[in-house]
Amino acid sequence: MRKPIIAGNWKMHKTVGEAIDFVTSLQKELEGWERTEVVVAPSFTALASVAERLRGGRIALAAQDVCWEEEGAYTGEVSPLMLRDVGCQYVIIGHSERRAYFGESDETVNKKVKAALSHDLNPIICVGESLEEREHGDTFRVVEGQVKEDLRGVDAEAARNMVIAYEPVWAIGTGKTASPGQAQEVQSFIRGLLSDMFSPALAEVIRIQYGGSVKPDNIDELMAQPDIDGALVGGASLEVGSFARIVRVERG
Ligand code: PGA
Repeated sequence: MRKPIIAGNWKMHKTVGEAIDFVTSLQKELEGWERTEVVVAPSFTALASVAERLRGGRIALAAQDVCWEEEGAYTGEVSPLMLRDVGCQYVIIGHSERRAYFGESDETVNKKVKAALSHDLNPIICVGESLEEREHGDTFRVVEGQVKEDLRGVDAEAARNMVIAYEPVWAIGTGKTASPGQAQEVQSFIRGLLSDMFSPALAEVIRIQYGGSVKPDNIDELMAQPDIDGALVGGASLEVGSFARIVRVERG
């Protein structure tokens, strides 16, 4: 049985003080809650202070990006070694905003995924089609290309720890959620790809999240789908009440 995983992607929001206040309230809200794995992804600037506050608790810490190199002359970058050092267990890789605005490609995503895994940092790998691609009937081809390129050469044992986030670009920050059926269709397809690339047994343990306008009022029906193992939440993760409600989803 895959344990659901709900991650809050704060994007470029929250100062250090705001981040600390948020996780302090979240810890209180979720006291005793064990059924869902919970992850928060603050900005780089807040990671160290949030890690300190989360130490010893159940909420895990993620970064929103990582470099593929361990150290060196890469101005502005942060390495997997540094993320582990500061207390991250997860890192989001290949988010559509990075692909659209910062030149992230499947090739760089692949290098980052391998670097993260080799440093015991679990990647949350984002894939998903644009509206235009969906309207042209290209969804499956696009997602297949991303999954195969992003995971090229990834060792099967390490792959066990990764999370895939299916995030249709047209659903991110738009209030337009994919219907549970649309999300399930693509996510079951992704599980099939993982089964071919690794093994059926491994595909059964890898968690696949849905992301794109997840809110307290649509999480239940999304999570009732057999191949939706959690959510990557943007806007609704910025407020403790709505994020805590999403975390407390009962798997259907
Ligand atoms: P959203 O963002 O929930 O605000 O649509 C999701 C994401 O970008 O991960």
